[in-house]
Amino acid sequence: MGNNVTPHLPPAWRGWALMLAAAAATFLLGLLAASILQRREEARQKLPLQPIGQWETDSAKWGVNYPREYESYKRMTDSTARTKYGGSYPRDYLAETPANVILFAGYSFAKQYQQARGHAHSIEDVVETERVDDATPATCWTCKSPDVPRLMDKIGVAEFYASNFNSLEAEITHPIGCLDCHEPNTMRLRVTRPALREAFARRGKDLAQATHQEMRSLVCAQCHVEYYFKEDGDYLAFPWDEGAAPEEMEQYYDASHFADWTHAISRARMVKMQHPDYEIYKTGIHAYRNVACADCHMPYRTEGGVKFSNHHIQSPLLDVANSCAVCHRWSEEEIRRRVESNQDKVRQGRQMAERTIALAHFDIAAAMQAGAGDEELGDARKLVRKAQLRWDYVAASNGMGFHSPQECLRILAAAIESAGRSRVESARILARHGIDSPVNYPDFGTKEKAQAINEAFIEGRPSKLLRQ
Ligand code: HEC
Ligand code: HEC
Ligand code: HEC
Ligand code: HEC
Repeated sequence: MGNNVTPHLPPAWRGWALMLAAAAATFLLGLLAASILQRREEARQKLPLQPIGQWETDSAKWGVNYPREYESYKRMTDSTARTKYGGSYPRDYLAETPANVILFAGYSFAKQYQQARGHAHSIEDVVETERVDDATPATCWTCKSPDVPRLMDKIGVAEFYASNFNSLEAEITHPIGCLDCHEPNTMRLRVTRPALREAFARRGKDLAQATHQEMRSLVCAQCHVEYYFKEDGDYLAFPWDEGAAPEEMEQYYDASHFADWTHAISRARMVKMQHPDYEIYKTGIHAYRNVACADCHMPYRTEGGVKFSNHHIQSPLLDVANSCAVCHRWSEEEIRRRVESNQDKVRQGRQMAERTIALAHFDIAAAMQAGAGDEELGDARKLVRKAQLRWDYVAASNGMGFHSPQECLRILAAAIESAGRSRVESARILARHGIDSPVNYPDFGTKEKAQAINEAFIEGRPSKLLRQ
């Protein structure tokens, strides 16, 4: 019946009413948008109530002017949050994947290796790590504190790097803070670490030309990158001269015969990769689409009508609604599952590489026990160095491959291929020395067992790898 009722208003009136309503709605939406933009501008441009000193390293002093940023920043003290592969909880990588102990045999990472926590812990974690000793250079402080740029200004950059770690302990007290990323008073983003500026300059690029959106990643690239200490004066540098892919870094390191340590089992000269997060991110879909680190790790929030960037930098999976769902109209559950399924695949590739590379180290040691000399083993060692550099590029970077899953799997495939070639080479050498039975691999199924194996090799009483 209702379908047949004649409308009370003539059709023309209805049209006008609709049009007026639409115009009013558009006007109101415009007002709303203008007010949001204005508030955002206010948040950006708010002049400080308390002037901030040029080298103010205490973030609490900055916090007086910017309470929202400071309050959220302070939440980085939490170290309990866990996601499937990340979170602020400092999980023990060595207990979780004991093969890592074998891969780092003879190097400090075989003793202790934990997942990164929030920036608030940067000082205590570097001071307490078993990887620091009396010979450690001050360079190790570089990505831990805003006191670093202050001291570099005071004593000079090269002089800073050439100092001793322990000698600066009294001077370096503030965890990563406002001064590391911001210019005081204007709050403009800035790069305070010379290594990034120098790496850009050597490739003919000027950091000052970076766009605002690029700066929202470059402030992170000061620290979340692969770096090394040059032998001369422990000067911190990024190995980017040939490019930022592992093959290009390898070319760079090989050119100067660089090695971080000599492997205790295979005697191969090895390179340790340090979290190349920025480099891997640059090869992924989000960088391609101009999405910055800060878009996911420091999403906007609104509080009392004021929009600000959440300075609680953490796993975005702990805040999917603000970090991802602003761009992706999938359910939070779906987003999380998509991330985890990508990470699961990278994890599988990593584990295969880990096991094969560990066996490649033992194969070389077995060939040594069969009487092979350094010259004979040169190629097998070069190939295991190649394999592990690639594996580590993926393993040491954070996010279990999420930032660029295809690139991570490509690199792991190359790692497995090189390790396989190293093992074929060792098998040939073993055959030449009359050994054709399989190598007697020791059990490295737990952190403790693997560490005991390393100790035995270091103390000159290695596991017997040849069957009698
Ligand atoms: C598209 C969003 C996105 C962008 C852009 C992004 N990340 Fe991530 N990041 C993630 C996700 C998702 C994870 C995985 C978190 C997890 O497993 O809990 C992650 C993990 C991390 C982690 C480890 C966190 C943890 O809890 O273990 C670090 C460190 C990190 N990213 C740094 C960076 C840096 C530096 C950049 C820029 C160079 C960047 N990310 C760009 C989404 C992003
Ligand atoms: C690791 C780098 C980093 C650190 C450390 C950091 N910030 Fe930020 N901050 C950013 C980024 C990135 C933005 C976004 C800037 C933009 O897009 O214009 C930002 C934005 C801001 C803004 C502009 C308004 C807003 O929220 O977007 C203020 C104010 C600010 N930060 C204050 C602080 C204070 C105070 C501290 C110390 C407690 C601090 N920041 C520490 C990176 C950092
Ligand atoms: C001055 C060096 C420095 C800068 C700049 C920096 N980081 Fe970090 N970041 C670190 C260090 C060091 C740690 C590990 C701290 C620890 O474990 O004690 C860390 C840890 C993290 C974590 C792990 C936190 C968790 O809860 O799992 C994330 C995520 C992260 N950083 C992202 C970023 C992003 C995004 C930026 C840029 C907006 C950035 N960082 C800028 C040095 C830096
Ligand atoms: C500023 C917008 C933006 C944010 C924030 C963002 N993304 Fe994306 N994401 C994109 C764009 C653009 C693409 C490219 C595909 C497209 O155009 O739809 C993409 C692609 C993806 C893909 C598909 C990649 C592939 O090749 O299969 C996944 C998965 C994804 N994003 C997850 C996330 C997660 C998880 C977060 C939060 C941690 C996130 N994104 C945050 C814009 C964003």
